[in-house]
Amino acid sequence: MGKGYHNRMDYYYRKAKVEGYRSRAAYKLKEINKKYNVIRKGDIVVDLGAAPGGWIQVSREIVGDKGLIIGVDINQIERFPWNNVITIQADITEENIVEIIREAIPNGSMVDVVLSDAAPKISGIWDTDHARQIFIAENALKIAKELLKPDGRCVIKVFQGPLLNDFIDKVKREFMEVKIFKPNASRKESSEVYVIARKRKI
Ligand SMILES: C[S@@+](CC[C@H](N)C(=O)[O-])C[C@H]1O[C@@H](n2cnc3c(N)ncnc32)[C@H](O)[C@@H]1O
Repeated sequence: MGKGYHNRMDYYYRKAKVEGYRSRAAYKLKEINKKYNVIRKGDIVVDLGAAPGGWIQVSREIVGDKGLIIGVDINQIERFPWNNVITIQADITEENIVEIIREAIPNGSMVDVVLSDAAPKISGIWDTDHARQIFIAENALKIAKELLKPDGRCVIKVFQGPLLNDFIDKVKREFMEVKIFKPNASRKESSEVYVIARKRKI
């Protein structure tokens, strides 16, 4: 690990501490939203793999009082002071996950945005981690297909590797616009990139 790695870690880590975000990841979503305008005022957002909650905080800033955020994580997410943030402790690869999330949405509405920053615990075995990440991403895509409005937007974290192209093809079957983006706040050494999709093919 070079010096740059630590500087970079420290920069976003400290910035998150100073600015009151629960994670450095918050800055990745800020960059994504600045470039692609996925989250808008008043939106209903489903955030998969949301703990500790940095993406929830950023989403809440954008949607404001009238929007709704549903954060899902296998781990517990510490409470927020806003009543339009709902958190659910669940595994997003669980079979009935869509029903569990739907129960939290008033009037069974469809949602504007599905985010997934979910990632497995890194084992260090590169192809295992890649395969697990793609499996999680496929589950996020499945959830997005069930819950998103026709003009809904979706952001899914993936790891680069041999299974990525197949996954992107699957996303392209569902959405007209598909982009791949690596935020500056994402470590250069990490193979993570984000798939950003909009305009459903329905
Ligand atoms: C990189 S962290 C997310 C950080 C978050 N975006 C933030 O800003 O605070 C990845 C999260 O994915 C969660 N996760 C991994 N696999 C999951 C699964 N199958 N179901 C639900 N959450 C999962 C982990 O528990 C972890 O909290």
